[in-house]
Amino acid sequence: MTEKHVVFDTDPGIDDAMALLYLNACENLKLHAITTILGNADIEQCTRNALILRDLFRIDVPVYKGSAIHINGTEPDDYPDFVHGADGLGDVGLPEYSGDIEREDAVSALIDLSKKHEGELVILAVGRLTNLALAVQQDDGFAGRLQEIIIMGGAYQHPGNVTPFAEANIIGDPEAAEIVFRTETPLTMVGLDVTTQTRMSHEYLEPVVGGLAFGDFLLAINRTYADYHVRTEDRHDFPVHDSSALVYATRPDLFETVTGHLSCTAEGEERGRTVFREDANGPHKVCINIDSNAMLEEYGQRIASFYRG
Ligand code: BDR
Ligand code: CA
Repeated sequence: MTEKHVVFDTDPGIDDAMALLYLNACENLKLHAITTILGNADIEQCTRNALILRDLFRIDVPVYKGSAIHINGTEPDDYPDFVHGADGLGDVGLPEYSGDIEREDAVSALIDLSKKHEGELVILAVGRLTNLALAVQQDDGFAGRLQEIIIMGGAYQHPGNVTPFAEANIIGDPEAAEIVFRTETPLTMVGLDVTTQTRMSHEYLEPVVGGLAFGDFLLAINRTYADYHVRTEDRHDFPVHDSSALVYATRPDLFETVTGHLSCTAEGEERGRTVFREDANGPHKVCINIDSNAMLEEYGQRIASFYRG
């Protein structure tokens, strides 16, 4: 597979951390920047977490701070500390970090990178779509310069995980999602239809990250994540949200997709619902199935060969 030029737009987040770990190990993904967005914690904490993870995984790319508010100017009422901990990374004690954010903001950086890598840039967006929507609003040419957007978010034939209809990243900022969908930029939705099909557990992760310099930290944060699923589903394993979108970027052959048009419901009890109309000529793809065993093998092998040499 040829190299893809990518930006990671993220709200770290335990599963965001695991996705970045995988992304860094993918030699066919050329990462140019990490842009942050509020979501699993507020923007300050998510940005701090991005700096921490960058140091931890020894990733040499700039971090740009994203929007602190939604596209319509509102602020979140609260953050999902019951899933990701108050610090967004499991409340297990945050590692030290040394670097700083860039002076430029995330939206300007996205626009600049779209010009620098015109027609080649892939945005891997695993949080709410506010930064992308702001870039669309600030620069008419932005969306047209992207090669593709791959999102973790939404649900097609699967119920939501925040309401019966809506997934967290989309209901976080439905107006932003609608702005991004309307650009008709090629976009693949890696939503709950597939991210709930693959599950990880301590037993799976221990041989994958155990013994690495940051292994104990990753196992600890995933214990917090697993605890949430014990409380809510009575299961010790947990769905693989953000990493599934990253695996799609490198191994789309593991996924079954349908093509069509996405939109997002803004009003009423279905607010945040991703509505999909199948159409062979549509700009959007929705993942509906995944070879989960192959995905777990891909994830584990990629981590082993990169971090263990
Ligand atoms: C999504 O919501 C966030 O909490 C996770 O990081 C993931 O991106 C799952 O619905
Ligand atoms: Ca996320």
